[in-house]
Amino acid sequence: MHFHVLTLFPEMVSQGLSESILGRAARKGCIGLETVNIRDYTENKHKKVDDYPYGGGAGMLMQAQPVYDACAAVKERIAIRRAEERAAGTEDVSPALFEAGEMLRASGAADEKADVPRLRVIYVTPQGTVFTQQMAEELAREEDLIFLCGHYEGIDERVLEEIVTDYVSIGDYVLTGGELPAMVMIDSISRMVPGVLKNEESAETESFQNGLLEYPQYTRPELWKNRPVPPILLSGDHTRVEKWRLEQSMERTRQRRPELYEAYTRKDRAVSYLSRDRLSHMDMLEVIRRGQAEVVRAEESGVLLYDVPSGAWMLSASDEDMGERLLSEIPREEKDLLFAVHQDFLRDSIARRFHRNLVSECFQAVYTRKRPPVCTATFVIRPLVPQDVDAVHESYHAVHSREYLLERIRAGEMFGIDADGRLAAFAGMHDEGSMGMLEVLPACRRRGMGEALEAFLITRQLEKGWVPFCQVFDGNEPSLRLQKKLGLKLAPGRLYWIS
Ligand code: ADE
Repeated sequence: MHFHVLTLFPEMVSQGLSESILGRAARKGCIGLETVNIRDYTENKHKKVDDYPYGGGAGMLMQAQPVYDACAAVKERIAIRRAEERAAGTEDVSPALFEAGEMLRASGAADEKADVPRLRVIYVTPQGTVFTQQMAEELAREEDLIFLCGHYEGIDERVLEEIVTDYVSIGDYVLTGGELPAMVMIDSISRMVPGVLKNEESAETESFQNGLLEYPQYTRPELWKNRPVPPILLSGDHTRVEKWRLEQSMERTRQRRPELYEAYTRKDRAVSYLSRDRLSHMDMLEVIRRGQAEVVRAEESGVLLYDVPSGAWMLSASDEDMGERLLSEIPREEKDLLFAVHQDFLRDSIARRFHRNLVSECFQAVYTRKRPPVCTATFVIRPLVPQDVDAVHESYHAVHSREYLLERIRAGEMFGIDADGRLAAFAGMHDEGSMGMLEVLPACRRRGMGEALEAFLITRQLEKGWVPFCQVFDGNEPSLRLQKKLGLKLAPGRLYWIS
């Protein structure tokens, strides 16, 4: 993970992050920190970076030019570093590729330099979305993060529109500048980066990991100011200790942070409804498990989720009344509404309410085993690069747009096999997490390429502790046969994607 901080006070950030765990992580090379002085990029001969706001008002604003140029310079350096890493073959690759005895060759990747990668530029501002543990976990998956720290009264809006991808606040109070908030976020994101924390510092059981506050902890002496350590902690009975700790966490959260407690039990309620038919609901269970969905409503007889990466509303209800109640929670003004629903009455209601009628009917197939499938055919599987997008777009005839395919490639979620000097087969992961987009050129079929690709995707997901699943369009018999061969189980219920 490489952090890049655009600031007027670089020492404040570099010194603030040079000690303790983050200092150690930087020295070990687990994280990299680049601080960039915005003032170095001003074209003003007096090194000025601020000016009065048009229309009057108190204070000064940071000007667009130095901020823009500082950011452009960072992006350029990132692109060069990535190209060099690719050329040297030192970029991160999934160990699964090697374990499967396959060789990863990111052909063509080295001349991708001109194609600047999709980079997150985070403007830290009290006007942003409030930073959470979930956001830290999500941001920790990026390879590079650029933070923009404001000062004075703010920054010229035009440069923000031009470069910023995320507006993030650390809370509802105002600080004198963005450096402390950026440092807070960097600290919390770094803890999620593999290798940063030692085992004993592991983030596993701490506050917020499962949406609950941490249980109380005690150390020697056993009796202090007449206060004994709770006897159960001295019992040596691990199961009872774990149970006690969970109860304490729940009770503490209920008392101190009732809104977190409500959200925690909502997730529990959702999982309990969805688990009544796990195969049919694996899409919804997995977006919850993978921490990418918000549980908007969870009732005895229905669940409504909002999946953040795909922007899809996911619904299941056991009766029409509940279905209507869940649907009434969805804001109508959003223009690109996308739904994944599990009952045909929901499909019909959505068509009526939201005037949507582009429906794909699917069967869900789930890989329920813990071990990867055994696949006899071995091929060289490589990640796709943006130059592959046209080949993919031409041969993949399902509903997806070229932009979507390009986004999936850039996200590092599309893989392919070459034959006779061209892309012969490909597959990937959709933004909500299902495996899909599998296609083998007609001339290359029946050689096991589709099977190898899907086995590869399954292995990759199992390594992350996920349950792999895919959604097969109604009528796609070859795909259904493949799912059966690889050992996936078909869900009894249907699933409808509505856009
Ligand atoms: N800049 C000033 N106050 C801030 C806050 N609360 N969060 C993020 N950036 C800020």
